[in-house]
Amino acid sequence: MGDKGFSALRSIFCFASFIVALHLVNGDLSYSIPEEMKRQSVIGNVAKDLSLDLRTLSSRKARVDSEGTRKRNCDMNLITGDLVTSERMDRESLCGKKPSCVVKVDLVLENPLELHHVSLHIQDVNDNSPQFNENLIELEISESAEKGNRFSIEKAHDADIGQNAVQRYSLQKNENFILAVDSNKVELVIENKLDREKRNEINLLLTALDGGSPQRSGTVVIHVTVLDANDNAPVFSQAVYKASLPENSPPDTIVINVSATDADEGVHGDVTYNFCHGSDDDINAFSINPKSGEVKVTGVIDFEERSSFEISIKAKDGLGLTSYTKVIIDVTDMNDNAPVIYLKSLTNPITENLSPGAEVGIINVQDRDSETNGRVRCSIQQNVPFKLVPSIKNYYSLVTTGQLDRELVSDYNITITATDEGSPPLSSSKTVQLSVADINDNPPVFEEQSYSAYVTENNKPGSTLCSVTARDPDWRQNGTVIYSLLPSEVNGAPVSSYLSVNGDTGVIHAVRSFDYEQFRSFKVHVMARDNGSPPLSSNVTVSVFISDVNDNSPQILYPAPEGNSFMTELVPKAAHGGSLVSKVIAVDADSGQNAWLSYHIVKSTDPGLFTIGLHSGEIRTQRDISESDSMKQNLVVSVKDNGQPSLSATCSMYLLISDNLAEVPELKDISYDEKNSKLTSYLIIALVSVSTFFLTFIIIILGVRFCRRRKPRLLFDGAVAIPSAYLPPNYADVDGTGTLRSAYNYDAYLTTGSRTSDFKFVSSYNDNTLPADQTLRKSPSDFAEVFGDCDSSPEVGSGAT
Ligand SMILES: *[C@@H]1O[C@H](CO)[C@@H](O)[C@H](O)[C@H]1NC(C)=O
Ligand SMILES: *[C@@H]1O[C@H](CO)[C@@H](O)[C@H](O)[C@H]1NC(C)=O
Ligand SMILES: *[C@@H]1O[C@H](CO)[C@@H](O)[C@H](O)[C@H]1NC(C)=O
Ligand SMILES: *[C@@H]1O[C@H](CO)[C@@H](O)[C@H](O)[C@H]1NC(C)=O
Repeated sequence: MGDKGFSALRSIFCFASFIVALHLVNGDLSYSIPEEMKRQSVIGNVAKDLSLDLRTLSSRKARVDSEGTRKRNCDMNLITGDLVTSERMDRESLCGKKPSCVVKVDLVLENPLELHHVSLHIQDVNDNSPQFNENLIELEISESAEKGNRFSIEKAHDADIGQNAVQRYSLQKNENFILAVDSNKVELVIENKLDREKRNEINLLLTALDGGSPQRSGTVVIHVTVLDANDNAPVFSQAVYKASLPENSPPDTIVINVSATDADEGVHGDVTYNFCHGSDDDINAFSINPKSGEVKVTGVIDFEERSSFEISIKAKDGLGLTSYTKVIIDVTDMNDNAPVIYLKSLTNPITENLSPGAEVGIINVQDRDSETNGRVRCSIQQNVPFKLVPSIKNYYSLVTTGQLDRELVSDYNITITATDEGSPPLSSSKTVQLSVADINDNPPVFEEQSYSAYVTENNKPGSTLCSVTARDPDWRQNGTVIYSLLPSEVNGAPVSSYLSVNGDTGVIHAVRSFDYEQFRSFKVHVMARDNGSPPLSSNVTVSVFISDVNDNSPQILYPAPEGNSFMTELVPKAAHGGSLVSKVIAVDADSGQNAWLSYHIVKSTDPGLFTIGLHSGEIRTQRDISESDSMKQNLVVSVKDNGQPSLSATCSMYLLISDNLAEVPELKDISYDEKNSKLTSYLIIALVSVSTFFLTFIIIILGVRFCRRRKPRLLFDGAVAIPSAYLPPNYADVDGTGTLRSAYNYDAYLTTGSRTSDFKFVSSYNDNTLPADQTLRKSPSDFAEVFGDCDSSPEVGSGAT
């Protein structure tokens, strides 16, 4: 309302009330005036009301006195006698809230002094608007406030009174609040619940109205801040989070971010994340950042331990509203496990006679990785006679592929390698040690096919002849060689009486002294046997060759030893030089050089007349016999062998140069001793017998020769012609093949016969007289023909005795 309009209205109003209010109080004057009249506004005509003479007013000094010190509100118009306001009077400042406001003034007149009380009743005018203390009322109301909750609002005040004071309030129309007003208070009442999340502040205009006319009003803005109540739980962006994580991811690897939003604000919307403990034992492997929701690796992620994790996560806002989500982490496999080889069973040691394909062990291979990373191939090195045969899943049999021989390879280090198919592949290997146990599969084998031992005769018993060695590659007792002699007989006596063999060393000893003249060689069989069970053995032939020692002196068979013979050779007088007159026959039991005899005439009656063949022993005339030669000739012949030292024998030979025995009157004389007369007859008998014998001999030779005409050699035909009586009693040719040596010896006396002998034995004996060792190579069959029905045992010669 404009100021001018307002004053005009007020003037009209004042004037009206002036008329109404005019009356006398206590005989005094009383006026009723509205407040706020302008200065010099006429309150009333005091002169008229008091019947005072206008003309005297000035002289009587009519004036208005205020009571006390109070300031004067009114003045007296001395000309018109009107009481006028001297200033604007405000009821509210004069009287405050008093329901009636009376201002008392005194009207004073002098000469005579007259005092009149004038009461001015000041009437209220609606000149004040209702007013609130503040322009803005701040209210904070939690959204959780219930319907009907009341919130006091300070009342508006109005300086005016009565109807002019605040009469009612009005609240701007809104969804949530209504106003409850009673005489004491004004309250906002929640009509509908607040929702911060919808509207977090509300401005309401509250108007206070008075009852004046014109009506005045005052307003205030109520600013309602809706306080958050924690009415919203956090909400995860996904109900389930899925992540995949390679195993062995290092700590601090971010697996996934979870996030939850909370519609609430401040502390109510402050979401913190946590694992729900107890849901999973393995959440130690992860951590969650409580603020950001980052799930990180903190522990060891091992696919083989756990291939997936399911972690419950709780989101909690500041006041404890929670919600949950789940994170499923699939761990992806990396090839981080090498295959492991387990030896499930092993036969160790294995015997060498295992047949190929025999199973000696079972191997299991495991790889903790999965899929291709865990697929394993198994192999074995090439150079061993074993292979792996796959059997049921990841099991392999270790089988032999060939024949084992402990004597070649006794230990195997079998390296098994397992490789997986990951990328890069991992592998591992294991070495299996296998030893091969021995089987007694090798007999002892002699180092040589046969052994020869040479021993000179007359050896000392116990002397070492030779040693044999056999090897057996088997193990321990299976390879321990024991030597022994195989029982047999030598010359009718058990072989053990000749030789012994050291069972451990194979050294062969002579048990007794050998005599070359008894036997020259023999064979024994030595057996080497191992100690296995059953034992294996082999044998070898040991030939013992006895070599000759010149231990036999030549023995003269003819002429008979001195003193026992009266034999005299007749030499025809007509014998020419070079005629064979006799022959010294000697043998030597030794052989070779030791039996190579040479003949010398050591003494003779007539040294120039006779010679003796150095090796033949044939006594021949050196020149023609002459008449002057003594009839009786005496020769001393020495027979020496060729041994070292040589041995010799001597004999005497009596030769009678005569054509006729009868012409020998002094036959007696040529005997050594003076014998009795019987001597002559003995001599005759001897001569006759010799002659007879010789004749018989020739006939037999011719006969045999005739019988065996087609046989080229008649070597031993001659042998039978030798009077056995002439052979030394101890002469025994024990050398099986050495019968040829006999021939050699026989040669010495087979030539006994005349020079006309047509025996062809000389060439034979050249053929066959061989060194002792070579003769051994001759097989007995070579001589079967010669011996005919003779005992052809190689061991024992045909002893002439
Ligand atoms: C998770 O959040 C971090 C930042 O806070 C970011 O570096 C990372 O890449 C996020 N990881 C995932 C899987 O979203
Ligand atoms: C097998 O291995 C062992 C020890 O590693 C070694 O002493 C032995 O000589 C090896 N054997 C073979 C046949 O390689
Ligand atoms: C010897 O061989 C036999 C089988 O012929 C075997 O049983 C034994 O164990 C072997 N002895 C040794 C010491 O190897
Ligand atoms: C000696 O060995 C030979 C083969 O080497 C065999 O034939 C013979 O029977 C064996 N003799 C004995 C007595 O064991």
